[in-house]
Amino acid sequence: MCGIVGYNGAFDAKEILLKGLEKLEYRGYDSAGIAVHNEEGVTVFKEKGRIADLRKAVDEDVEAAIGIGHTRWATHGVPNRLNAHPHTSASGRFTLVHNGVIENYHLLQKAYLKGIPMQSDTDTEVIVQLVDLFSREGLSTVEAFRKTLSLLHGSYALALLDNEDSETIYVAKNKSPLLVGVGETFNVVASDAMAMLQVTDQFIELHDKEVVIVRKDRVQITTLDGRVIERAPYTAELDMSDIEKGTYPHYMLKEMDEQPTVVRKIIQAYENEAGELTIDADIEQALTEADRLYIIAAGTSYHAGLIGKQYFEKMAGIPVEVHISSEFGYNMPLLSKKPLFIFISQSGETADSRQVLVKIKEMGHKALTVTNVQGSTLSRESDYTLLLHAGPEIAVASTKAYVAQIAVLAVAAYVTGKAAGKAIDFDLKTELAIAANAIQTVIDSKDVMEQIAEDYLKIARNAFFIGRNVDFCVALEGALKLKEISYIQAEGFAGGELKHGTIALIEDGTPVFALVTQEAVALNIRGNVKEVVARGANACIIAMEGMEEEGDRLVIPNVHPLLTPLVSVVPLQLISYYAALHRRCDVDKPRNLAKSVTVE
Ligand code: F6R
Repeated sequence: MCGIVGYNGAFDAKEILLKGLEKLEYRGYDSAGIAVHNEEGVTVFKEKGRIADLRKAVDEDVEAAIGIGHTRWATHGVPNRLNAHPHTSASGRFTLVHNGVIENYHLLQKAYLKGIPMQSDTDTEVIVQLVDLFSREGLSTVEAFRKTLSLLHGSYALALLDNEDSETIYVAKNKSPLLVGVGETFNVVASDAMAMLQVTDQFIELHDKEVVIVRKDRVQITTLDGRVIERAPYTAELDMSDIEKGTYPHYMLKEMDEQPTVVRKIIQAYENEAGELTIDADIEQALTEADRLYIIAAGTSYHAGLIGKQYFEKMAGIPVEVHISSEFGYNMPLLSKKPLFIFISQSGETADSRQVLVKIKEMGHKALTVTNVQGSTLSRESDYTLLLHAGPEIAVASTKAYVAQIAVLAVAAYVTGKAAGKAIDFDLKTELAIAANAIQTVIDSKDVMEQIAEDYLKIARNAFFIGRNVDFCVALEGALKLKEISYIQAEGFAGGELKHGTIALIEDGTPVFALVTQEAVALNIRGNVKEVVARGANACIIAMEGMEEEGDRLVIPNVHPLLTPLVSVVPLQLISYYAALHRRCDVDKPRNLAKSVTVE
């Protein structure tokens, strides 16, 4: 979703800003812009489309040591040049970039900005016009900025330039992510450390409603009412190689290939000196004391949560409900007496999940976040965090984070179950290691998946994914992967459910992918496959070794029945990838999608 960068220092800001925006491309955007400030004042360049288009629009001869930049994912107003950020106030004095949504922008416009002509359809423009108005009324820039912030309802990450001060970037955030990066001769601003890793690995976390003055030699953080706050920088544990594609054609392919390593890293990260799997004692206690777990998540993370439910119920004996975050907050079910909330979020920034977190914290409940991003909003605002250790996930379609979420949930459920004295008759560490090898075996036969994509999906209009038990959960994820990157309409179903309506859609040649990894329901799902084949479906059965039959299209290695999702999802990811390639889709940046969905 939208991204912000800012640079204040000794070098040419333009190139650093453009490179920073390129690093934010993965979040999803439809237009981009930068503003630079030199002795001639502030100059804005913006363009609809990709950063490559913006690059062409930027005057190569403009040199400036201070500037801000933005990638926009349209919420208010269509994606076009006019609505792209930065936005400039009517007098031309202030220039602003904004992430987030200002809910009361219409009211503010009516109350304060009557008669001021708006140049865009965005909520953002109201902010910059308010700063201008208050400064014309006699406030200093920082006072005008503070007064404006105090009026805003909604989410924002902001960076502001003042045409009359070429030394300062004014920064603030509320609910949207924003960091300040520090260097010897410069300071920077970024939605995400990755954007500025090119110049520094030292970052300062910002909290909601703080006002930050970023000069090239100084960063001053204050509360909204002006109290100065000291906060030391931390070192971002990221490496440029983590965020580069290297020789891979796409991040998605690189990230799928990393999955065996991710599972092995999780084993290492969660084992103690005695070589046993463990989680922090306070998390273990919170889990064991809960009478019910409420897993809250969106999209792929929700699908991982469905599998997590099985783990906690089967290994730890704790009842679990799994909820879509955008629904839960506005239609809360009756809660148990001692609930524990588990938020699953790759980015740790998903606004739909965060609104639930805010509500349940207000109600006095405890929260555990399972995330890939240390220091992310959900992690900071929860009582406990379990990290995924998957490394940055850049492709919009989540792959390695899903596998990591399942593995970490398995560890948490296993450790909790053991602590509660449940009879668990297997060694999870060994089984995870076996699963890591099995994932590798699937990855090593990519050519098979490429052929399956060609045979089943090259001209398909739609596709179905079916399974029973955990295979059903994976079918949902397989369908999501296919639709988001190839734009083929795809749905995941419980095998037994198709015949209750959806089977009407099966025609000659309709692709149906069926997973057969669960012994107890293997015959049932095979029966469901026969039902669709009898109506013309082109069925592709993916079975686990030991359960295969003649005619199955792919046999995946045998792993522990609870861990099959770690392996069975991989062929579905790869099939989706090749289907998207066959259709010449932009695999890493599918249309209309954002990596980190920071608006509700
Ligand atoms: C799909 C995908 C999304 C995310 C969802 C939640 O491939 O990536 O469905 O899973 O937007 O994002 P996080 O996990 O960051 O909360």
